[in-house]
Amino acid sequence: MTVGAPIGVFDSGVGGLTVLKALVAQLPRERFVYLGDTARLPYGTKSPETVVRYALQAADALAGYGVKCLVLACNTASAVGLTAVSERIRDVPVIGVVEPGAQAACLASRSGHIAVIATEGTVRGGAYQDAIVRRRSDARVSAVPAPLFVALAEEGLCHGPIAESVARHYLEPVFDSHADASRPDTLVLGCTHFPMLADAIRIVAGPQVRIVDSAETTARCVRLTLEAENLLSEGGEGSLRLLATDAADRFARIGGRFLERPIRPHEVELIDL
Ligand code: DGL
Repeated sequence: MTVGAPIGVFDSGVGGLTVLKALVAQLPRERFVYLGDTARLPYGTKSPETVVRYALQAADALAGYGVKCLVLACNTASAVGLTAVSERIRDVPVIGVVEPGAQAACLASRSGHIAVIATEGTVRGGAYQDAIVRRRSDARVSAVPAPLFVALAEEGLCHGPIAESVARHYLEPVFDSHADASRPDTLVLGCTHFPMLADAIRIVAGPQVRIVDSAETTARCVRLTLEAENLLSEGGEGSLRLLATDAADRFARIGGRFLERPIRPHEVELIDL
């Protein structure tokens, strides 16, 4: 594997661009190939078998671009498919977002009571719960599916009364049902889309709750892994290639907000998996 090979980043759609943004910020000299499976999203409502099948197909496709590292930026795909993908793609490091997010949450929490919001599939699979308890046996995890946040983020309804009222719907039962001392002190945003709603979530959770965004910690984990494997690009220009399985226009329009830079539709290449 060569230092100049690209890093592959995979998500069910545009959400993983929040992870890509963090990766580009930490690794500006790297070449990235990002694949969003826009033809088949959402993954969060699908069965684990289907998500694993899709994740393997996407991983095979990115392996075909000669990547030196594969990042599963999708929480749902990481939660149910990381083991299967790591067993298939054995020659390069495969990094998901769940383990780095769980690690950051365990470090951030003083009380050990950690709330996780994610898609239905991620919560159902229990990967965050397991990863947290494996690191901190004293931890108590309150995991809640928050699927409407995905639609809100894609609609651009990230601030204001609608976002805050949906945040109250999901978060008040978690934060208000506990006496002050036993409320979660840490909240994991366990879905690619949720950092877009961080302000509304913060208003409802309260200023004392630590919010963990797994994008940042995953980017750090990728950098450390590349360093350890002597695969970090030290020179050269960074670049980004965007692939999607459907709807390049929509990918560009919505993805630009997630990546925080405009994406032109012709920058998005359509591929079949
Ligand atoms: N990318 C997915 C995740 O992080 C959210 C969108 C979907 O359900 O496909 O879980």
